[in-house]
Amino acid sequence: MNIFVEMKEKPTIFKSKEYLDHRFIPETLPHRDEKITSIAKYWVEALSKITPQDITIYGKTGTGKTAVTLYAKNQLEEVAQQNNLNIRIEYIRCTDYNTEYQILAKLCQLLGKPVPFRGWTKAEVVNTFRNLFKSNSLGDDLILIVILDEIDVILKNDGDNILYTLTRTDNVSITSISNYVDFKRFIKPKVKSSLRDREIVFPPYNAQQLVDILQERSKLSFNEGAISDGVISLCSALAAKEEGDARYALDLLKTSGEIADEKESDVILEEYVKEAKDRIEHNKIIDIVMTLPIQQQKVLEAITILTQKKEEITSGLLYEVYQDLAKNDKVSYRRLFDFINELEMLGLISANTISRGRGRGRTNIITLQCDTDLIDKALMYKN
Ligand SMILES: Nc1ncnc2c1ncn2[C@@H]1O[C@H](COP(=O)(O)OP(=O)(O)OP(=O)(O)O)[C@@H](O)[C@H]1O
Ligand SMILES: [Mg+2]
Repeated sequence: MNIFVEMKEKPTIFKSKEYLDHRFIPETLPHRDEKITSIAKYWVEALSKITPQDITIYGKTGTGKTAVTLYAKNQLEEVAQQNNLNIRIEYIRCTDYNTEYQILAKLCQLLGKPVPFRGWTKAEVVNTFRNLFKSNSLGDDLILIVILDEIDVILKNDGDNILYTLTRTDNVSITSISNYVDFKRFIKPKVKSSLRDREIVFPPYNAQQLVDILQERSKLSFNEGAISDGVISLCSALAAKEEGDARYALDLLKTSGEIADEKESDVILEEYVKEAKDRIEHNKIIDIVMTLPIQQQKVLEAITILTQKKEEITSGLLYEVYQDLAKNDKVSYRRLFDFINELEMLGLISANTISRGRGRGRTNIITLQCDTDLIDKALMYKN
């Protein structure tokens, strides 16, 4: 039989997987009514032809910032259309468009005045963008709400020019979304003062809230009887520990379902959730390791080798083994310490300074924080 037909016909506990996808925006967002209302309270001004105040949304990963904002966007678009109002809400993810030029070019394109994505001067793009508001084609009463999701990326990559330009364009309101409360340190005072924004904070979800979220989504996604209450509470409890991340909760549920399918079981057992957790963690580590710069990988490889040999890993010993692996491209001993710090921040290793006793100074002892096999596997993909 054709492999695809075979796969397609395999029994599955999923009714439809798309509802567990990150990009799917549910019709109801439990426990976020208040946040939806907060955004609406500012945006509603647009219905009276007043440019809304700028908004800044903060919150940790998976707290519903993107979903809630897009939900509010759909709602406003609906009423604007019904009332024939000249309101546009455009969503830009700054990981996709991460310079002022790119964002303005994208906005021009979305508003029906395409400009080339490279080659023009920035001033030309800025002018084209600003002229959109003067031209008759879009009407001089256009109100534009620009959602800048993951704004930290552009601030780090390209600075705050985009905010400057947008705040200095009449009839433009900015809604920025950030993971970090302190992202404004990347904004110059001049720009900060023209960004007269209101702040909305999204708290992490607790376990019970995650249960409600998962219950809604699982009704759409799984066959009846495929999941027990225990499974949903376990996914929620695990995700509540991971800083109340709804995306992680959904991933756990989806991966548990996939494991059930692999095992040809028509229900998800709690033990599958634990397996799913390990699998997600493994994949995360593999992703991190694969995307490390090459010299950093060599350092990690050296740590893995020494761990397998059950050696006590001091920075001196590590540098010796690393030098052998890196050969001509090796970094300096001093730079090695930056690498150690970075690997520690990624949670791959831990480094503890210990005192060797009087007169013998202090030494850094490094321990690998994950499975050596896993690192081996991840490094193998790369090579
Ligand atoms: N209240 C909710 N009800 C239903 N689903 C939700 C809710 N909150 C979040 N989700 C779902 O959880 C996932 C993560 O949410 P979202 O992408 O909005 O998080 P975020 O805060 O934007 O995270 P990040 O900072 O990582 O971008 C999405 O699939 C979203 O649909
Ligand atoms: Mg988001």
